[in-house]
Amino acid sequence: MAESGEQERLIAEIRQLKQKQRAVILAHNYQLPEIYEVADFIGDSLELAQAAARVESALIVFCGVRFMAENAKLVNPGRPVVLADPKAGCQMANMITAEALRRRRQELGDVLVVAYVNTPAEVKAEADICCTSANAVRVVQSLPRSPKILFVPDRNLARWVEQETGREIIPWEGFCYVHAQFTVEDVRRARIEHPGALVVVHPECPLEVIQVADRVASTSGMVRIAREVKELVLGTEAGMCNRIRREYPDCHCYPLRRTAICRNMKLTSLDDVKAALQGVVPEVEIPAIVAERAQRALKRMLEIS
Ligand code: 13P
Ligand code: SF4
Repeated sequence: MAESGEQERLIAEIRQLKQKQRAVILAHNYQLPEIYEVADFIGDSLELAQAAARVESALIVFCGVRFMAENAKLVNPGRPVVLADPKAGCQMANMITAEALRRRRQELGDVLVVAYVNTPAEVKAEADICCTSANAVRVVQSLPRSPKILFVPDRNLARWVEQETGREIIPWEGFCYVHAQFTVEDVRRARIEHPGALVVVHPECPLEVIQVADRVASTSGMVRIAREVKELVLGTEAGMCNRIRREYPDCHCYPLRRTAICRNMKLTSLDDVKAALQGVVPEVEIPAIVAERAQRALKRMLEIS
C-alpha cells in the first residue's frame, strides 16, 4: 500500500481522471479500503450487476474479480468495461468449464442448470438461469418442481439452497477455498470470545457451519445487518470487516478467521485503477455467440431479483 500522503495524492488524481473520462468505478465489498475511497458504488455481486446495468457513463472500471466484470459487460454490452487488475480471477469460478458442464448435462439427461454468478461467461451460456448468494433461494423457488436441478459450481451453496427450498439439487463439486475452511469449532470459539455478537456467515460456508450460525447473508446482506447490531462476527472474507467499519463505525466487527483472505480480491491497487482510467488496461471482451446465451441466463435472474 502506498504511504498515506502518496495515497491521498493518488486518490485525488484518480477522482480527476474519472471525471475526465466520464467513468464509473464499481467495487466489490471485499476490496481494499483505499479502493472504497475512489469507488462510485460498492456492493455484492447482485447489486454490482444491477448497478452496472444502470450505468450511462462512457466507461466502467471494475474493482473485483473477472466474473464480476464479465457480468457488468453482459448486462451493459454497449459500454466498455475494464477489470482494473486483469489477473484477478475467482478460484471457484475456475472449477468448472463449459465443456465439462455440457458433458455432465448429457450424462444426467433432463435437468435445469442453475449457475452461480461465480462462473465464466461460457458457463453461464450453458445455464438456464443464474443466481447470486443474495437470491439463490428465490431463483430456485421460481423454477418448476421437475426436472431436477443441477447447481454449479459451489457445492456448499447448493446444499444450503437444498435445505432452504426442499428441492432435490445435484451439486457440482466446486467450492470457495476462503469459505470452505470455516469449521463449527471456529463458531464455538467466536461465541466464547465475543459472547454478545451475532454470528453471520456467507452461504459459501459448509452447511454444518451455516447450521450453527445466527444468520446467513450475502456480503451486502451483512452490511444491512450491521446497521441493526452492536457486535458482529462474520464468517466470510476477513476484509469484510473494513467495509462494515466504514459504513457503521460503531459496530464492532470481528472476522471468524483473520486469515480468511481472498488473494485475488486483494490484487487491485490504486495504481491499477489509475492505469485502467488511462486506457492502458484491455477491455473485457466476450464473443457474441457466448454473450447472447449468457445474457439470457443473467436476465432471467435479474427479472426475479
Ligand atoms: P457476494 O455476492 O455475497 O458479494 O459474494 C461474492 C463472493 O465471491 C463471495 O465469496
Ligand atoms: Fe471466489 Fe471465494 Fe474469492 Fe469469492 S472469496 S471471489 S468465491 S475465491
